[in-house]
Amino acid sequence: MLILGIDTSCDDTSAAVVKDGRTIISNVVSSQSDIHTKYGGIVPELASRKHIEMIMPVVEEALGQAHITLPDLSAVAVCQGPGLIGSLLVGCSFAKAVCYAGNIPLVAVNHLEGHLLSPFLEDHAPDFPFISLIVSGGHTSLYIAEDYGAYTVLGRTRDDAAGEAYDKVSKLLGLGYPGGPLIDRLAQEGNPGAISFPRAYLPKTFDFSFSGLKTAVLNHLRSSGGSQPSSVPVDPAGLSADTIKDIAASFQAAVIDVLAKKAGWAVRKTKIRKLTLSGGVSANSALRERMRRMGEELQAEIFIPSVPLCTDNAAMIAAAGFHRFLKKEFAGPDLNPKAYLAL
Ligand code: KG4
Ligand code: ZN
Repeated sequence: MLILGIDTSCDDTSAAVVKDGRTIISNVVSSQSDIHTKYGGIVPELASRKHIEMIMPVVEEALGQAHITLPDLSAVAVCQGPGLIGSLLVGCSFAKAVCYAGNIPLVAVNHLEGHLLSPFLEDHAPDFPFISLIVSGGHTSLYIAEDYGAYTVLGRTRDDAAGEAYDKVSKLLGLGYPGGPLIDRLAQEGNPGAISFPRAYLPKTFDFSFSGLKTAVLNHLRSSGGSQPSSVPVDPAGLSADTIKDIAASFQAAVIDVLAKKAGWAVRKTKIRKLTLSGGVSANSALRERMRRMGEELQAEIFIPSVPLCTDNAAMIAAAGFHRFLKKEFAGPDLNPKAYLAL
């Protein structure tokens, strides 16, 4: 059974063909980072315009690489949300038009379910139940996954998502967007113990909070550059390369400590000894390493998708769509994208 997945939730235009929810036949991702990097973050209007330009060639490329045409598809699965509304609108409108024209069933997929099920696209896949930590630019959430479509929220971020903190700190340091991969690389050459940034463990809950950490980095920059009034933006041009590396490493150490500790608590408390890590931040080399070490300590099995499946991609949407398709959960021409959509 071949499903075409489409994801335009944020700043990547992606289309993929996946067989039986497990085997990737093609997975095409067109990144917009070059457009947004000079602004230090995504400009929603530019993102939607680029999606409009790219959706057709990206879908054609995905079908072409899979050597199939529309009649070979069992369904089209499209990301309905959460995400940027203008971006989502492009993917949803396109998917509805294709399904209407080709008389193909349409399935709506929650982007977070895509991330949660992305480990199933690897050979070493978990079985239910497992603990899922999703760490992306928009979300930081812990779930118990009992079955396909049966997820219990343990905790989620109360303010910024971990990836959002990476992107904002990157902007403060004058590094560019997306910040995660840039900080990941610089942190490898910095001292994680150079600055003691706060860790918001929020005891007795599985919730997260990263906005205080971002503010702590800002305050550190202000105090090290002489105390300036809060209205004056920090000028990263005055920072030495070594200082930037130390700040990157110290910031990252704080993020990883919190993510690893909370995921570890969830494994201990639930006694579910299987943990998946997914979403863009799970591409982080130090986080992957730390989770693997934690798995050994807790004797828990750790599942982390390969890097291209951590960041946004349509293969995960097709994989999640396959299980919705099996349950005959079809969407109609009245499908509307949703900027906020809980999982
Ligand atoms: O899952 P994703 O591609 O999009 C959302 O659903 O939000 O995640 C994007 C986030 C961005 O904040 C980006 O900075 C972060 O993932 N990211 C990383 C790394 N690669 C991407 N964060 C830390 N280390 C990385 N290597
Ligand atoms: Zn995502």
